[in-house]
Amino acid sequence: MIFIKLEFIGYIYDNNIVINPYEKEEYYMQSVDQSLQLLKDIRSIRKYKKDPVSRSILEQIIDCGRMSPTAKNQQPWEFIIVDDKKLLTALGEVTPHGEFLKNAPACIAVFTKTSSSYYIEDGSAATQTILIAARLHGLKSCWIAGNQGSYDGEEIPLCEGIPCYEPKNSIPLTEEVQKILKTPQDLQLISIVSIGYSDESPIVEKRPLEEVIHWNQF
Ligand SMILES: Cc1cc2nc3c(=O)[nH]c(=O)nc-3n(C[C@H](O)[C@H](O)[C@H](O)COP(=O)(O)O)c2cc1C
Repeated sequence: MIFIKLEFIGYIYDNNIVINPYEKEEYYMQSVDQSLQLLKDIRSIRKYKKDPVSRSILEQIIDCGRMSPTAKNQQPWEFIIVDDKKLLTALGEVTPHGEFLKNAPACIAVFTKTSSSYYIEDGSAATQTILIAARLHGLKSCWIAGNQGSYDGEEIPLCEGIPCYEPKNSIPLTEEVQKILKTPQDLQLISIVSIGYSDESPIVEKRPLEEVIHWNQF
């Protein structure tokens, strides 16, 4: 009898018959617990070891990112993997809260076409999948704001009842990044994800489950 456990995919080949692992309670508990722990462990890490991240791993991460859901299945994204030191430094210089990019072994810039109606949601979904895929590879990452204006902005009452953000300064981050990465102008920068092997363990407080969970109604 041959048992091969493929981590996080979880198929078991038993005499060439594919068995659904979820039918095996013991296996289910073990693999789900481990996976959930890894998901909870996706903390933003901004300091990395000097070890490079292989191109094959970076490609596998994008291969997961491209499977994310998109409105109307438009898949309006383009992913640029950056592992060139000069480009990483240049990106760190133009990104107000991403100076640490200059010391990261790699980053992934996620762009989406603004002609797609849900380009922010689509790009954000892909970004989150990238964070997960990186973690599964034992890597750590940090989501760096794509739209620097609104991340840095102050909330002001522009529209009644809706929180609107007035950019504190109007540095067009997307344009700066477009220039560095030579991307077409119709691509909006959604995020830059720095990636590497962690060299720090920050403690970040999260709102407790009991505080954020609601059943059926608030
Ligand atoms: C849309 C978005 C933009 C972010 N931009 C930045 C950024 O520009 N620089 C940075 O260091 N972290 C950035 N972060 C990471 C947050 O600071 C981080 O997720 C938050 O502090 C919680 O920490 P944790 O991810 O470790 O749980 C961003 C996160 C999101 C979702």
